[in-house]
Amino acid sequence: MVKIASKKGWYCKICGRFRANEKFSGIGRGRHICKDCQRKIQEEKLSKKQVLKMEIAKTYEQLIPEVEALIKDVDNHVGALANVSALLHSSFLHYFWCGFYIVSGDKLELGPFQGDVACYTIKKGRGVCGKAWEEKQTIVFPNVLQFPGHIACSSKSRSEIVVPVFKGDDVVAVIDVDSKGYSAFDDIDKAGLEKIAKIISQLFE
Ligand code: SME
Repeated sequence: MVKIASKKGWYCKICGRFRANEKFSGIGRGRHICKDCQRKIQEEKLSKKQVLKMEIAKTYEQLIPEVEALIKDVDNHVGALANVSALLHSSFLHYFWCGFYIVSGDKLELGPFQGDVACYTIKKGRGVCGKAWEEKQTIVFPNVLQFPGHIACSSKSRSEIVVPVFKGDDVVAVIDVDSKGYSAFDDIDKAGLEKIAKIISQLFE
């Protein structure tokens, strides 16, 4: 028999213990989850997230020699960038769009990428890409719908990271990565992509 409630409490549907004076947490009869079980569920979710983050960091490390190998002694720079975008895109589940915009005069021009079709040019200071170029620093943005002047190449994009590629003090390109999820990128992606940006800067004269 399913135990549901008594006068002053509820039975937890997970551990089955009677919990007196706890606020009912469920929707409908017999759906209470006690505070202890709620905390355990939360802890498990957190540790799963941590494991995933560690795997992402490890993958970036493994990608470094692969990116180095992809560009070594390659004269075909467009092909090399196309291969790097393919490698990155196929290595991470949280990547939806990933590619390069190359500095050309006062604008960024679309370079090799993987994902949905994208805009050809971005002016300096415009969108996340133009801003990262102007500010000469990586931008990690958790919710692009709230980024002033965000350029929505795809309506599916929800968060974005843009990493400048430097030649000396000058930005010569940016790596742009979009995700369908909110807050998909963090310091691990920033560190990994900045290392990759340093390697591919060799392709720019
Ligand atoms: N969202 C970018 C534009 C490029 S696409 O995402 C591929 C931006 O705001 O600069």
